Amino acid sequence: MTFKELARPWVSGLGVYEPGRPIEDVARELGFQNAADIIKLASNENALGPSPKAVAAMKKAASQMHLYPDGGAFYLRQTLSRKLNVSPEQLITGTGSNELIEFIGHVFLDASTGIIMADKAFVVYKLVADLFRAHTVMVPMKNFTHDLEAMLQAITRDTRVVFIANPNNPTGTMVNQTALDTFMSRVPGHVVVVFDEAYIELLQPEDQPDCLRYVRERRNVIVLRTFSKTYGLAGLRLGYAIAPEDCIALMQRVRQPFNTTAMAQAAAMAALEDNEYVAKTRLMMRDGLDFLEDSFRKMKLDYVPSSANFVLVKVGAGRQVFDSMQRAGVIVRPMDPYGMPEYIRITVGTRAENRRCLSVLKTVLKSVISR
Ligand SMILES: Cc1ncc(COP(=O)(O)O)c(C=O)c1O
Repeated sequence: MTFKELARPWVSGLGVYEPGRPIEDVARELGFQNAADIIKLASNENALGPSPKAVAAMKKAASQMHLYPDGGAFYLRQTLSRKLNVSPEQLITGTGSNELIEFIGHVFLDASTGIIMADKAFVVYKLVADLFRAHTVMVPMKNFTHDLEAMLQAITRDTRVVFIANPNNPTGTMVNQTALDTFMSRVPGHVVVVFDEAYIELLQPEDQPDCLRYVRERRNVIVLRTFSKTYGLAGLRLGYAIAPEDCIALMQRVRQPFNTTAMAQAAAMAALEDNEYVAKTRLMMRDGLDFLEDSFRKMKLDYVPSSANFVLVKVGAGRQVFDSMQRAGVIVRPMDPYGMPEYIRITVGTRAENRRCLSVLKTVLKSVISR
């Protein structure tokens, strides 16, 4: 028998996540002699590179890599608990928030349940629901923003999890505290609400909506955070969830014993202390977004004003523009997988990267139009 025949029948039908293309891949495929000639503005990474404090902590930790990590991440959870004013028992770590989304699937989803998400929200929610054979209801966004009223209306008896990415990827839009509070006052008790806050620390503290209050009130809420974006550690794979103790206890049961590495835990603790790096990151993002959005206005391109380190811009034939930009050494993200074939998503880079990206975009658009 073939492996396909032996496999659980739905596995071969599962969708595959299309990530931002790695620089080395593009260099190989397009024959670039020097990978340094390519810039990647495709995965919402932090163009500053990792925090110097995190790098120092990793170097220090390197000599201990013959030892298994503390899978329970005791010290990191202590540090996070102090910073966030929640208890360590309300925290669990994972290999990126992606793994935590999978834990949510393990704990809450099966074929008799469903999830609700926005139609242009982070696609991994659906991929994980499919993995557990749960059904997905995609609720259309309003002005590229989660329509929480429509999401409430979509809840049925079978709904088990509602995902809200805030700010959302790939639209960069946010829902405010009032809308969140209204939603939370009406959501029924049989639903777990997941707030995915992968980009939240990029905002100034006073602009960050507070969803941890629902955890402290012991509502059926899970908040997801990551070290991949603001803290510049995407390659290390470290995220965490904050939820009431009884929820975390269930998520701990589906975690592999040594999921997060000792190196990642050491780097994360150092990064949390690096306020200067976070301040620089926020400045770079604001400066870069202002530049990109201003340039789009001058070029008369529609874009979606963003609260995160990336921006959606309408360029016409998105896949074609993406291909041409890639040939010129600038990797962005086509948006047809999100049902937005006319858009590309550009991650904010350094000033030099943003300028190069814009100049390549201009040249490509001219050549696409003149064809
Ligand atoms: C909204 C959102 N959630 C989660 C993730 C996953 O991040 P990670 O697994 O690196 O923590 C991403 C990454 O792009 C994201 O945009």
